[in-house]
Amino acid sequence: MEQNEKIKYVRGMFNEDLKDVNNLIVLNEIKVKYLGKKGITQDLFKVMKVLDKKEKKEYGFLLNELMREINQSLTTLKEELELKELEMKLTHEKIDVTLPGLNITTGAPHPMSKIIDEISELFIAMGYDVISGPEMETDLYNFEYLNVPKHHPARDMQDTFYITEEMLLRTQTSPAQVRTLLANKEKGPVRVICPGRVYRRDNDDATHSHQFAQIEGLVVDKNISMAHLKGTLEIFAKKLFGSDREIRFRPSYFPFTEPSIEVDVNCFNCNGNGCAICKQSGWIEILGAGMVHPHVLKMCGYDSEVWTGFAFGMGVERIAMLKYGIPDIRDFYTNDLRFVKQFDQFEGGE
Ligand code: DAH
Repeated sequence: MEQNEKIKYVRGMFNEDLKDVNNLIVLNEIKVKYLGKKGITQDLFKVMKVLDKKEKKEYGFLLNELMREINQSLTTLKEELELKELEMKLTHEKIDVTLPGLNITTGAPHPMSKIIDEISELFIAMGYDVISGPEMETDLYNFEYLNVPKHHPARDMQDTFYITEEMLLRTQTSPAQVRTLLANKEKGPVRVICPGRVYRRDNDDATHSHQFAQIEGLVVDKNISMAHLKGTLEIFAKKLFGSDREIRFRPSYFPFTEPSIEVDVNCFNCNGNGCAICKQSGWIEILGAGMVHPHVLKMCGYDSEVWTGFAFGMGVERIAMLKYGIPDIRDFYTNDLRFVKQFDQFEGGE
């Protein structure tokens, strides 16, 4: 019978096609080819319509058998292929847990950022604002408003990079004092610190750099006295260098403070007995300070009969060198990661 031959032919074709199936995608294509809506077996069903009863029975039986065979073969092959693919995945994606792990390198804060953050935080805790000023300054703010007119001998204390006659790279963070006082329209109380870079025409060596950082402090209020300055700096020294620290004032000179002082901390290395770090003196100089000069207050619009204040300025590298035992200021700027990494471990004084 012609139609029964057709079934045989389709079976043969299907078995041939099956031989080429080596993955699930091709398997699915075969499935669609034979069992899909427009698949080959659909054509075989259509033949039914034109057959008589007896033929229909025989043909139907054969067709059902073919369908079962096709379904069975496809299911079995699918299972085989799935297993094969899983095995392949398992061998390819095998994880060797004994292999050494990848080293993830972590960064570390630069010691300068670290110490500036630490100092800022301790002043913030005492109610100070942290401000910044421009590194390119006017001669007016860097010198004149700070009581250093042109040709004043105090200009020799800070050898300056001039850009024009009026513009310069600031030699100190003290112009931030001027900017703060001038900007305060109410001429009221002020409590700020200003960390930032400064520049001087110095020859670089182990303790000098043409570029370094300072932190400026300024407090202006009614009845501010030297005692407030002393108390503030004592807290600063203890927090940074340890609770046993004491400070002492030595008379000094800065044009913008009167009286002016230099502040020493008793040596944290030998507790004041004398060692190489404090050059056997028992004391280490940490900063300059003083009571804001009435003339500076007046120039900035403050009534110096009503308002008084103190100011201080410190070299940040010097503080960091003392605290961390760094022998050469140039280490801060040579970008050797081995240097930077060491400061990961250091914690604050207290
Ligand atoms: N500006 C000074 C310097 O660079 C440091 C200084 C001293 C700042 C005394 C002050 C101060 O505010 O009161 O040498």
